[in-house]
Amino acid sequence: MTKERVLILDFGGQYNQLIARRVRECRVYCEVRPWQTPLSEIRAFEPGALIFTGGPHSVYEPGAPDVDPGVFSLGVPILGICYGCQLLAARLGGEVVPAGPETAREYGKTETVFSPSVSLFRGLPEKSVTWMSHGDLIARLPEGFIAAARSGACPTAAICDESRRFYGVQFHPEVRHTACGTELLRNFLYGVCGFSGSWTMESYREKAVEELRETIGGGRVLLALSGGVDSSVCAALLAEAVGQQLTCVFVDHGLLRKNEGDEVASAFAGRGANFIRVDARERFLTKLRRVQQPEEKRRRIGEEFIRVFEEESRKLGRVEFLAQGTIYPDVIESGAGGAAVIKSHHNVGGLPDTVDFREIVEPLRLLFKDEVRQLGRELGLPESLVSRQPFPGPGLAIRIIGAVTREKLEILREADAIFREEVAAFGLRPDQYFAVLTNLRSVGVMGDGRSYERAVALRAVETEDFMTAGWSKLPWELLDRVSVRIVNEVPGVNRVLYDVTSKPPATVEYE
Ligand code: XMP
Repeated sequence: MTKERVLILDFGGQYNQLIARRVRECRVYCEVRPWQTPLSEIRAFEPGALIFTGGPHSVYEPGAPDVDPGVFSLGVPILGICYGCQLLAARLGGEVVPAGPETAREYGKTETVFSPSVSLFRGLPEKSVTWMSHGDLIARLPEGFIAAARSGACPTAAICDESRRFYGVQFHPEVRHTACGTELLRNFLYGVCGFSGSWTMESYREKAVEELRETIGGGRVLLALSGGVDSSVCAALLAEAVGQQLTCVFVDHGLLRKNEGDEVASAFAGRGANFIRVDARERFLTKLRRVQQPEEKRRRIGEEFIRVFEEESRKLGRVEFLAQGTIYPDVIESGAGGAAVIKSHHNVGGLPDTVDFREIVEPLRLLFKDEVRQLGRELGLPESLVSRQPFPGPGLAIRIIGAVTREKLEILREADAIFREEVAAFGLRPDQYFAVLTNLRSVGVMGDGRSYERAVALRAVETEDFMTAGWSKLPWELLDRVSVRIVNEVPGVNRVLYDVTSKPPATVEYE
């Protein structure tokens, strides 16, 4: 029986991660590997199907990304997308040419006509909108292939050889603009490949626990727990796998939100692992004293975090394994480089380089964020932790403009808690929302007297990937209520502002 798993060969397109997500959403396990992956490695993966992604090249360019022709003899279905479709055609004896004047290049939403008898399009409307982005087209089909879809400018918008189960689509089924994209992928995975969609977090949990036990044996594991979703789920999984052999070090840097430290501690009480809560609040405050610049704050927090973590691990004696909550998007993206540094993200759990570990274990490195959350639920973590909005490693320090002090932290914690409480009471859930303590003071009137106090800014954003974000159109009544409560309940604040800037040009956080 073939394995229910898909290998996605990456030809450098911009939507490659999306393809993997869509396949996983169909409950089929998949991994993304670079196009240079040798045939032996592809075989060793034992794929039940292959997907070739899009990419920015032309197949006829010298040195263009290619595949080992051996993949066509593996006997598994193949779906080529955009560049992947052209590559499939070119390597099997067809011809790919640059689009000419009559056969225009296609970019964007394009009406496409599908052949209803082709398995890929079964049950789909005959005509539908697809998302195209290509400058080349297939001028001659390889032997055994037929044209399975057409658009105004492209008579080979999809091609197939049903007997070999090879399919190619010129458009991108993985992007939402392709109206029937998900149905098409389901047709490929369930109809063509015969998969049942059995990849669940329940099955992952069992397998991961087994593998962790095998890797770790009788060794000891150390995990830096931040209380964020990834490190918490990682901790719960490891606790289930190796119990007492795991030590979680939770560094309370004093830059957490209201009650957060206690919530994390109680979620991990009774899980069988060792849990160390290090009270490093004073240390971090001392390090941050009079530091104004955002990057300097981040640098000091990152460094101090590592120092505290190292001290704790030294106290524990020999620990062979360091665990990290790395997730799949980080793995896929780590290939990219050279982008401008807007902010140097500090992730709690960043690798200390002076501590000696035999091995790093990353049990979530193949999961997407929604899968990590699902796994957390499966492991019985509280919903408040599992569906937690992102919170930056440097915490409230980058939500206080200018120098951080105990008093400012106190003000921000209270204001932020009120904002979150009221948003929840309204039944809303922006993707990220929080309060910021600005360095603005302004005149107000309170009772019969003049006040000269601080201004709190509220930030709420809607986003899919946090690379871009729009500001949330929160109801006026909600903003009004939050504002009234903050100025009444939080001493030292006499003004509340709402941030109506998107990213770009602003960023989500203020520093
Ligand atoms: P920006 O401010 O860059 O934030 O638009 C995008 C997302 O990243 C989070 N963020 C961080 N997360 N360490 C983190 O772990 C950091 O240093 C950091 N800085 C920003 C931010 O909260 C938002 O979700």
